[in-house]
Formats: sequence, structure tokens, C-alpha cells
Amino acid sequence: MQDNQVQIFDTTLRDGEQVPGCKLDTKQKLVIAERLDLLGVNIIEAGFPVSSPGDFISVTEISKIVKNATVCGLTRAVENDIKVAAEALKYAKIPRIHTGIGTSDSHIQFKFNSTREKVIERAVKAVSYAKSFVEDVEFYAEDAGRTDNAYLARVCEAVIKAGATVLNIPDTTGYCLPEEYGAKIKYLRENVKGIDHVILSCHCHNDLGLATANSIAGVINGARQIECTINGIGERAGNTALEEVVMVLKQHPYLNLETSVNTKLLYDTSIMVRESMGMPVQPNKAIVGANAFAHSSGIHQDGVIKNRETYEIMDPEDVGVTESAIVLTARSGRAALAYRAKKIGYELTKVQLDLAYDAFLIIADQQKEVKDEGIHAIMKKVSKISKIATA
Ligand code: KIV
Ligand code: ZN
Repeated sequence: MQDNQVQIFDTTLRDGEQVPGCKLDTKQKLVIAERLDLLGVNIIEAGFPVSSPGDFISVTEISKIVKNATVCGLTRAVENDIKVAAEALKYAKIPRIHTGIGTSDSHIQFKFNSTREKVIERAVKAVSYAKSFVEDVEFYAEDAGRTDNAYLARVCEAVIKAGATVLNIPDTTGYCLPEEYGAKIKYLRENVKGIDHVILSCHCHNDLGLATANSIAGVINGARQIECTINGIGERAGNTALEEVVMVLKQHPYLNLETSVNTKLLYDTSIMVRESMGMPVQPNKAIVGANAFAHSSGIHQDGVIKNRETYEIMDPEDVGVTESAIVLTARSGRAALAYRAKKIGYELTKVQLDLAYDAFLIIADQQKEVKDEGIHAIMKKVSKISKIATA
């Protein structure tokens, strides 16, 4: 792997699917897994095999059809979980077991009623056991975002010795600030023996709306994998949105960080996930929301019509959206009306445009948006008036 390559670990089918209302059956999961493989993600987290017979079957079937990506199954630091995951992954071309345990004092005390030392022992045992089935073992330190850095470094060092190939540093509760999360990754890179032989992974939740910023801070500070979901779906406020981190890296080439994702498939993939999960995407969602490339105020429309780059920092075609939309509202100006009218076949003189614009404002004040039918009606009126005026 090149040093500037960021691995994209998609967990739409695991962390995303565990959201109430997003449940998919095996057939639906297979369609999404195939699409993720085509999209070019590096790892597909297919499920949590021990959690239900249905999930076990889904992970098994996904393992059979995925051609390029690594297929990963989640486990707790529990022997039976790991054994069952290994069984579900047995047909995968490149299998990975993702095992781990909570490392924050809150998890150690309240979830496990245990001690820091005993948690390290369990972590090491889980990784060693997973390693007896597969070469590629990812370890997650759940709630790493709120775990003391010095202790986290000890956990990481111990699981590297046990054979972990990837270390996942989840901000499970979405609490970290980007600077803090970036500093955590940097600290681990500087204080863990053997860290250069493994990949550090960001897994950031979005409780404070910082998941994307935190993941980017992570890779700037040396992480080389981002765990994310299509449309940012996931527990509570969701996970890091795949489309966002991929486009941040693409639009900021000076960071010198790349992914293998075919960005032109992002929009269609978003629609596929939205529809099969029945989970709507907010219109103002970055990259894939209905308004992400729509311009409605007169000042912006005038600029975009003159040159798209005045108000757009990326080309909609790069994410699979055919073109920017000029939406006609009461805030639109003459330039936008003339532009949309031309698109549907009307070339207006200055006088006609003035007449049309007056008629347009009356309609626009009564409606949220003036669609093509509205423009046709305005043009009928205008052509009558201008015929009378020129007769
Ligand atoms: O958010 C989290 O900590 C997780 C782990 C299970 C990886 O999803
Ligand atoms: Zn998570």
C-alpha cells in the first residue's frame, strides 16, 4: 500500500444497518455489497455474524460474491463470537476479523466491572484467537475517544504484539474535537512500539456533527483507514459519511491523500442505500442531498450562470450528479429566469424578459418554487403582450 492511500472501510451493512428502521434482508445486503465493491471501497464490514442467524447468512453470502474488497465481520472479545465470524467469512477471498473491547474507564467500570489490566488481557486473547483463523485482524478500542491516551497506547502495543494488523480508534460517542482526535492519532504514532507495521483507523460518530472533521484530522495525523457509511447512516446521529470524506480528500489534493473510490458512482449509491433502507437523506446533506448542487438566490444564480466555480467547489458530474440546478424562487433574478426559459426553448429579448420577470415574481411569491409548467404559462402571457405591443 502506498503511503498516501487512505483505505475506505465501509460499515453501511453493519454500523449503518443496526439503526432502527434500516434493517435489510440478505438479498438487499447482497445488492448493496456488490455496489460497494464496484464503488471501489477497500473493506466491506458485512455484519456481526454471531448477532443473529440472519446476519450470519448475510456475511456468508456476501463473502461468496465480493470480488475485490476485503470482507470483514465484527465480534466482541469473546471466543464464540470470533469462531462464528471465522466460519461466516470462510468463503471470502480476503477475510478480516474485527474484534475489540471498550477501553475507556467508563466502559471498563460500568460495562465490564473490570480493571485496565484485565481488559488488556482480554484484548490480547481475542486478537491471538482471531489470528488462529485469519491473517488480517483489526482491533477496536471502543470509546477510544474518551480513553486516556497513555493507557490506550499500552492497549495498542499489546494487541500489535498479539498480531493485530489494523488498530481502530473509535470516537464511539462522537465527543472529540478534531484537534483532540488528531492529537490522539499523533500520540499513538509517536508512543506505540510497532505502530509503523499496522494501519491506524478512524471510526468517528457524528453526535456533535464532527465525524467528517475528526476523520480528516485523523488521516492528516497519520491514520490510513477511515470507517464510514453511505449517507452517514449509523447509531444515533450516524457515522462518518463516506461520500464526504472521499470528496474532502479529492478536493484538497495538497493533502496528498487518495482513495480508490470511483466518485462518479457516489450519487447513485446514495440513492440505492436511501431507497433500500427507507432512510431519507436531508436535502441539505453535503454531496448527495437534493440541494447540494441547487442554487436559488439571485446573486448565486447570476454567478453560477456566468461561471459555475463562483459558487461551486466541485463539479457535480464528479459525484454522478448530471448538472447544477437553477431553482426558480421569489429570490431568483432575471438571469436565472432567462437561463431556465432558454433551457426549455425560449430566447427572450430584453423587453420580453422584463415582462416575464414581473409575471414571474407574482407567481413566485405565491409558490415555493416555479417549475417549467409555470414558465410555459408566463411565456404564453408574454408572447401575447409582446405581439399586441408590436402589432
Ligand atoms: O462505534 C464503535 O465503537 C463501534 C465499534 C464496535 C467498532 O462501532
Ligand atoms: Zn460505531
